[in-house]
Amino acid sequence: MADKRSQWKSETGFVLAAVGSAIGLGNIWRFSYMAYENGGGAFLIPYLVALLTAGIPLLLLEFAIGHERIGSAPLAYSKINKNWEWLGWWAVTFVMFGIVLYYVVIIAWCLNFFLLSFNLGWGGDPNNYFFKKFLMVSKGPSAIGEIRTRIFFAVAFIWVLNWIIVYRGVEKGIEIANRVFMPLLFILTAVLVFWALSLKGAGEGIKAYLTPDFSKITKPKVWIDAYSQIFFTLSLGFGIMIAYASYLPEKSNISRNAYIIAFLNSGYSIFAGFATFSILGYMASAQGVKISEVVSQSIGLAFVAYPKAMSLIPGGSIFGAIFFFCLVVAGLSSSISIIEAFISAMVDKFGYRRKPLITAVSVLGFMGSVIFTTNGGLYWLDIVDHFLTHYGLVIVGIFECILVGWFFKLEVIRRHINRISSIKVGVLWSFLIRYFVPVILIIILLGDLYNEISKPYGGYTWTSLILIGRDWVLATLAAAFVFASRPWRTEKRNEKNRESIV
Ligand code: PHE
Repeated sequence: MADKRSQWKSETGFVLAAVGSAIGLGNIWRFSYMAYENGGGAFLIPYLVALLTAGIPLLLLEFAIGHERIGSAPLAYSKINKNWEWLGWWAVTFVMFGIVLYYVVIIAWCLNFFLLSFNLGWGGDPNNYFFKKFLMVSKGPSAIGEIRTRIFFAVAFIWVLNWIIVYRGVEKGIEIANRVFMPLLFILTAVLVFWALSLKGAGEGIKAYLTPDFSKITKPKVWIDAYSQIFFTLSLGFGIMIAYASYLPEKSNISRNAYIIAFLNSGYSIFAGFATFSILGYMASAQGVKISEVVSQSIGLAFVAYPKAMSLIPGGSIFGAIFFFCLVVAGLSSSISIIEAFISAMVDKFGYRRKPLITAVSVLGFMGSVIFTTNGGLYWLDIVDHFLTHYGLVIVGIFECILVGWFFKLEVIRRHINRISSIKVGVLWSFLIRYFVPVILIIILLGDLYNEISKPYGGYTWTSLILIGRDWVLATLAAAFVFASRPWRTEKRNEKNRESIV
């Protein structure tokens, strides 16, 4: 017998879980790095525009699809149009057998750095420590080398935590974990921000954060980065928000929740940015260099620049421990959401029992993570991440808008939102979903494709980009078609939607 469809205990539980998924590693270092690179305060303008014109509309769409069709991504899409089931499978497959595999590895690095913080174990040269001693990076992606034991064990530990939380179920596992994680994360982040603000030179950093460099705002790259960041940070195109919304009870204030979640998520990023920029200001003043010269690489921000600062500030080991602990917590609450999105899809279609399935998927996930723990792991991570986030997420987003906006009555979805929500959604939303968001995403996709073929990404060889990156995308797509072509083992596809189409 298949288990009964899970449900959140309360709407607050749902909001916290969705916020937990949204707030992740991306909010702490990816956001700060993007702001740093794209003109400080000037980045906030495209970022907020992207939030309002694409982030919130799509979040609303995903919530409404999951809630109205009552299903995980593949089920919801197949109830919209049965030829499009593959799209839902693709989303949940490339996140489960792609993104989460290396995402867990980054959480594992953070866990290692959390432990290292206590005695500032990275020594006097964090750059050398991180790349040469900790990762021991090889010459290139084809030189896989050996497994790094300490990363391997941390990865195993993180998978066990993921497994325990998801195993306990939506209400008793995911909801409870986020009820603890989110308040904890907010408090600890506040400690970091106020501590960082009190450092010498912090003012300069904040100035760089808040003073817009308007010469950058005219560059298309800044806008593309802002839209991609919003997409990634709200976990859109992952199939997660669809599954989470499907666990809501009939009467749920969807649009109000979408606004709360979007603002909490971006508010958190902007708030955490104060800590990062204060640290950068501090580093600049301690080393007598310009703020723009402190960091050279995105990964370097968390694992090189922060450790460097921790060795300098009084009480830095505590600061470092809190910082890396926050990353672990933020990361975990996101990784569990990916696993749940995939589990939910399998249960919907094949009627598997949740618990054995979760165990099997966690073991497979752990095995899949191993490649990223090797000497060549950093390169693999970089390539797979580049391809999946640039092509997977964006293509799913485009099709999502086209499918629901053009091949289905978008009005059904809008009426559904308005019937149960306190904040009404107008025709502007329909316009954004039908025209604006797909056009923006297509522009991003074309820009990406153009860059892709004009020069090999990251200076890798074409062979490794094709074999690792492109083929990873294609393999998950092929798997999606296989899943979609299997017969339904449950009756769920025939079950009624909340607002049946007339
Ligand atoms: N929103 C997440 C972040 O910003 C992205 C993500 C979600 C990644 C779920 C993995 C899993 O980090």
